[in-house]
Amino acid sequence: MKLRGKSILVTGAASGIGRAIARRVASEEPSVVICVDKNERGASTVAGELAAGGTSSYSVAVDLADREAIELLAHVVTEQSGGVDVLFANAGVSFGGGLDTLEEAWQTSWDVNVMAQVRLARSFIPGMIERGGGYVVNTASAAGLLTNLGALSYAVTKHGSVALSEWIAITHGRDNIKVSVLCPMGVRTNMLFPEEGRQNDEHRLAQAAVLEAGDVLEPEEVADKVVAAMDAEEFLILPHENVRSFYSFRANDTSKWIAAMARYQDRLAGD
Ligand SMILES: NC(=O)c1ccc[n+]([C@@H]2O[C@H](COP(=O)([O-])OP(=O)(O)OC[C@H]3O[C@@H](n4cnc5c(N)ncnc54)[C@H](O)[C@@H]3O)[C@@H](O)[C@H]2O)c1
Repeated sequence: MKLRGKSILVTGAASGIGRAIARRVASEEPSVVICVDKNERGASTVAGELAAGGTSSYSVAVDLADREAIELLAHVVTEQSGGVDVLFANAGVSFGGGLDTLEEAWQTSWDVNVMAQVRLARSFIPGMIERGGGYVVNTASAAGLLTNLGALSYAVTKHGSVALSEWIAITHGRDNIKVSVLCPMGVRTNMLFPEEGRQNDEHRLAQAAVLEAGDVLEPEEVADKVVAAMDAEEFLILPHENVRSFYSFRANDTSKWIAAMARYQDRLAGD
């Protein structure tokens, strides 16, 4: 799909991959880019920057963990822009931890990584169908196709995001709804490199696993690959090519894959 003339909404637009996507799609002459984030200042800075560059853009501050806030967002955007043609459900959270992960962290992970994408799809896909079609790009992660050592709630909820994307593609393809799911490994953002003092041992294991498994890409490189994949209407967006072979290894011999991952984890943990 070409993005020219399209009404585009990006969540998590205040920083990292979402900000890079907002900037990248602005160069495709869309009708509007709507920057959504709970970080009000960050989102409005990005929208201001796009507007200064000649792209119609505004920001909406939303806590995507809040169902009612998403419903209100859909209302505001429909009033202001008549709906959305392209939805990037990109915002996400990550918590290190295993079976000891706190209930609160699980809940936030479900709400932001899975239910926000469900609620955004529910809010915007009917309008897309009415207008003849649209495009949904959910940001999951390579963790949604494989796993993420040291980050159980992240691995589980990112699998949910992949499953949701696949379901929408199968069910709404006939309505001319295109779907892609973005599954990178390491990308240089605040999520992979949090501020000093915000890392625990599990986060360090999760980070080490990602850093050893492949290159760390810049968010701008990922945004370029997203737009190219949308042009080709590819479902899986894999900015790191080796994820495809890991995914295939996992599918073809899952027991061997699990044994290899367990050895990898032991090595990273120094056991
Ligand atoms: N950085 C990586 O290595 C990597 C790898 C694979 C997938 N991802 C995924 O990419 C997406 C973007 O993350 P990023 O790496 O750019 O990190 P980031 O921390 O730079 O950006 C995440 C953005 O989401 C926003 N956000 C978080 N919770 C929110 C909420 N409740 N409501 C509204 N906004 C909220 C944050 O304010 C932030 O602006 C996430 O879904 C993440 O899981 C990142």
